Amino acid sequence: MINISCGKWQIILKAQKESKLEIVHAGPLLSHPEEVINHRPPVFPWLNKTDWAYPVRGGGTFHEPAASFSFSDGQIGADLFFHSHTKKSFDDGALWEICLKDSHYPLEIILRFRTWDNYSVMEESVLIRNRGGEEIHINQAASGFLRLKGNDFWLTHLAGSWANENRLIEEKVERGLKILDSREGARTTRHQNPSLLLSRGRASTETSGEVFGLSLAWDGNWRLACEKDDQGDVLIQGGINPAGSQSVLPGGTEWKSPPLIMTWSGEGRGPISRQLHRWANDVKMAKRHEEVPVLLNSWEGAYFNVNSDTIKKFIHDAADIGAGMFVLDDGWFGQGDDARNSDKAGLGDWEINKEKFPQGLAPLAKKARDKGLKFGLWLEPEMVSPQSKLYREHPEWIVNNPHHQPLTERFQLMLDLSNREVEAYVFQTIDQYLCDIPEIGYIKWDCNRQITSPGSASSNPSTNDFFRHYEEAFLRIIKGLREKHPSLLFQACASGGGRMNYGALEQFHEFWTSDNTDPVQRLFIQWGSGLFYPARAMASHVTSSPNHQTGRTTPLKFRFDVAMSGRLGLELQPSHMSDEERTFSRRAIKEYNRIRPLVFDGDLYRLRAPYESPLTSILFVRPDKKEALLFAWLTQRFVGDNYSPLKLQGLDENLSYSLEEINPLPPMVDPSGIPLPRTSTLYDQTVSGSYLVNHGVEFQFFTEYSSAVVLLKAK
Ligand code: GLA
Repeated sequence: MINISCGKWQIILKAQKESKLEIVHAGPLLSHPEEVINHRPPVFPWLNKTDWAYPVRGGGTFHEPAASFSFSDGQIGADLFFHSHTKKSFDDGALWEICLKDSHYPLEIILRFRTWDNYSVMEESVLIRNRGGEEIHINQAASGFLRLKGNDFWLTHLAGSWANENRLIEEKVERGLKILDSREGARTTRHQNPSLLLSRGRASTETSGEVFGLSLAWDGNWRLACEKDDQGDVLIQGGINPAGSQSVLPGGTEWKSPPLIMTWSGEGRGPISRQLHRWANDVKMAKRHEEVPVLLNSWEGAYFNVNSDTIKKFIHDAADIGAGMFVLDDGWFGQGDDARNSDKAGLGDWEINKEKFPQGLAPLAKKARDKGLKFGLWLEPEMVSPQSKLYREHPEWIVNNPHHQPLTERFQLMLDLSNREVEAYVFQTIDQYLCDIPEIGYIKWDCNRQITSPGSASSNPSTNDFFRHYEEAFLRIIKGLREKHPSLLFQACASGGGRMNYGALEQFHEFWTSDNTDPVQRLFIQWGSGLFYPARAMASHVTSSPNHQTGRTTPLKFRFDVAMSGRLGLELQPSHMSDEERTFSRRAIKEYNRIRPLVFDGDLYRLRAPYESPLTSILFVRPDKKEALLFAWLTQRFVGDNYSPLKLQGLDENLSYSLEEINPLPPMVDPSGIPLPRTSTLYDQTVSGSYLVNHGVEFQFFTEYSSAVVLLKAK
């Protein structure tokens, strides 16, 4: 028996020498784990027995296998038997390595389980070894596999589209195979996210239900498969998408999968998110402890109309409102006819536009530094515009089957990173910039299309495994840049939401959550994203009103109050703001710098979903429960609407808390001149934790798009 315990839960495997490895339990901790083996019901001999911990094609399963191989003698299928296992203990958990061997071929699979007990989070991955001399073909290989007993599971996952990412979907798991995946090659998380929840009995609530949470840490093509089998059990697996990723393993080599992250809760989905967020913050995320300043980005304020003068003004305004960084977005590069004056030209020509910036960027970056600001730059390094010097010089450098006409998307093509020469060019171009302008402290790394026609004109195209080669080159570039410029910060932009996965999060310190900055739609997008990813990683910007994506008009306070629940930034033209708006923004940024540790390191309690009610609310609670930050937003107002109080789960009932309103507005009057009360009677009061948890907070919002941010401090 192998008992992989991980904080609150465990996986139990039945391991007998020369037998198949079986999974006999996944779920809560058992005081007598051996009982699940001793009391297993017998399997009727005329039924297929499929309790394999890592079922492979040919190894006795007719369901979707975790892996499938073919061999140089023309045979397919493997027959794996348990061989041995080891366990290494660490201060924070352990690593189990379980070796399975084929009964005939020199194929070895090591199942690796790394656990972190304090977070109840584990990663499963596989290492596949070819111990012989002939090639072995890996047709598919999942990173991890679970078999869950029972007939009544619900699946929760995220799907959407551009500017509408990560909408929540809940469905009962029915007979058959359900695939969630991406074949986009790059920007693989815009339409579906490689994360899911599986709950027993019904869709979990925030506080109830047995729930498994899974997320694949891979930024390339991915696949999660969920199958209800002939016995009614649920088989679940995640890994690199086999479509277009068939690897050949030469003799004497090995292949490593990305990790599948798994966690479990017996008390609903709330703990799943908190476990993942804490683990991400403490263990997984790139530069997790780095102080990232509130930034002002030029995109929605200037679009392509950037030049020295506009940027000087932006830098001045950024410093004036108290931002800590200015980011120059698209539009600063390309020359003459190739100038980036629209999205039709210039990508790949990463030379500063001499007409727009006669002195270059260095003086602007220095100006920013002298004003106490970091300087950030937008790049889309994987791309080339057909209208560019780079494309004219190297038409063979694009991703495409060279015998077919290339197809553009947003007027652009992708560079073929699977070609080592192109990889080196991309690395050197960015590296040179960073060496020439050391003031650059932040790169917004964009990626505004996907791979629709995989292929390479290079001498060794390896088209069957193109997507993996592409992704590995991408990771090498970014890792190389981080190693050489360790203080650099990176945002994974990818059109918003397109690189939101734990593979990217190891290299990037934040995601651009969505190109949609409308605060109402952001509440939905951030709600879904926050199920799996921490607020620290979710860039959230205040933009102008009416909103450029939805046309919705909302008050500045509402926009700030939404953006402050993630990683706050601004993306507008400060010179178009009124004096009152600038004053409000200056104070809000200052407040954000004060309360940000709660957003970044607090435990997230989702109190009311935007899907359920126009009154939406979340709460961040410091782990010691001495401080908390409450957000409440009203997205629609009908006279007579009545919302039940928001019960602040997560606080300590035995403490008392003072309540301070953040971002208050001046006293308001109704249209007939009657003064309106503040939105809560609890502001500046001290209230018991018991009242806040058990009775709850009632807000009185008088207009649509009203909101409240409240800092709670234990007395
Ligand atoms: C993408 C990004 C935006 C902006 C533009 C620039 O759409 O998501 O934030 O950078 O590209 O072209």
